[in-house]
Amino acid sequence: MRQPVSGFSKKSKEEKIKWLIATYFNNDNSFIKIIQQYYNSDTALQQLHDDFIENAITNFYLPFGVAPNFLINGALYTMPMVLEESSVVAAASNASKFWLERGGFTAEVISTTKNGQVHIDFYGDTDTLTDFFEITKPKLIASIDALQKNMKKRGGGLLTIELLNASETLEGYYQLHCTFETLDAMGANFINSCLEQIATTFEAEAHTYTAFGSTKPKVVMSILSNYVPECLVRAEVTCKVTDLKQKDVSGEIFAANFVRAINIAKSATRRAVTHNKGIMNGIDAVVLATGNDFRAIEAGVHAYASKNGYYSSLTHAKVEDGVFRFWIEVPLALGTVGGLTSLHPMAKFALHLLQNPSARELMQLVAVAGLAQNFAAIKSLVTVGIQKGHMKMHLMNILNQLGATLAEKEKALVHFKEISVSHNAVENFITQLRN
Ligand code: MEV
Repeated sequence: MRQPVSGFSKKSKEEKIKWLIATYFNNDNSFIKIIQQYYNSDTALQQLHDDFIENAITNFYLPFGVAPNFLINGALYTMPMVLEESSVVAAASNASKFWLERGGFTAEVISTTKNGQVHIDFYGDTDTLTDFFEITKPKLIASIDALQKNMKKRGGGLLTIELLNASETLEGYYQLHCTFETLDAMGANFINSCLEQIATTFEAEAHTYTAFGSTKPKVVMSILSNYVPECLVRAEVTCKVTDLKQKDVSGEIFAANFVRAINIAKSATRRAVTHNKGIMNGIDAVVLATGNDFRAIEAGVHAYASKNGYYSSLTHAKVEDGVFRFWIEVPLALGTVGGLTSLHPMAKFALHLLQNPSARELMQLVAVAGLAQNFAAIKSLVTVGIQKGHMKMHLMNILNQLGATLAEKEKALVHFKEISVSHNAVENFITQLRN
């Protein structure tokens, strides 16, 4: 039986690998090669990556792709995208080109407020707590003066602090609900530091507030919320319905089918989840490329998709007076300074590629990436189906799985230009070639 390991994080990288190989790979050193082939020969760069997380043993590559020709608010962008799914960058490029010829995308930031809570237990009289909060509020704010000095200088900082009574949903539960403007920073560390200081001050002041008697409020925890419906961005495309004409489909029929597909995603959860997953293909890829926290974005976006009490589409479409309109509204708490954005060389590169946007601008670009991805998916779904394009892009993965040579790959690409791709068909083709 395997034994637990102690002091693992204190071991050197080599010792950690040695332990893994001995414990899980039967001392087969060929696995060390796999790990080592992903080391960067630039030792400083490797050290930078090793320092991002604890117990790093190597790097894990994902492709960094680009989708050009995104016309957004009148300026042209090339979108950096990091992800493994074969057809996503091709779909993004397809959508950007389609809309380049129809006026491009527009995007606007609706709001940029972030929030966090100090979660409190209190089983006494609510009025006493409210009085205490009102008296103490200036001290709570003053206690984060040093923390928010720089942020305030730049025009951000704590915006509001409120006491919320949530005891009807959970007995004895109250919140100090705080809102923040964090400008170009995603702001997680700033917000959490402020909240923890506010919590400390709150408890210290409560300790000496005699009206509580022995029933004092107690801080349970302090943390930012990744639900950010007040950090919202909207992106849109619009054109005459007649301009939507496809090869074999009129603009009117295409638009009607497109709107119908969006409405299905608005009313059926099973479809909405896949629909929004397609949107996140675009959003996550740019979020990741720019060194932002895609888990925070995912959590916030999906919660927003459920804001009406049921899970629904993040995009909307309509046809009015012969004009097609398609838009997305998403909460995106992004940063363009601090964190990985300024540490990871490829994140820096991605931000440079996007013309060093402010966080507000990046929100717009990322929302467009989501909208474009959704447009490409729905366009395929209501016309030729998704598999045609998807399997074309997946062809190379299948060929690689089969160990195809360069010459075999070239022949396969020609052969499958007009023929449906399936694992079986590709396998048969390669077998025939080899015979
Ligand atoms: C695949 O990654 C994404 C799609 O399933 C999205 C959708 O169905 O809208 C194609």
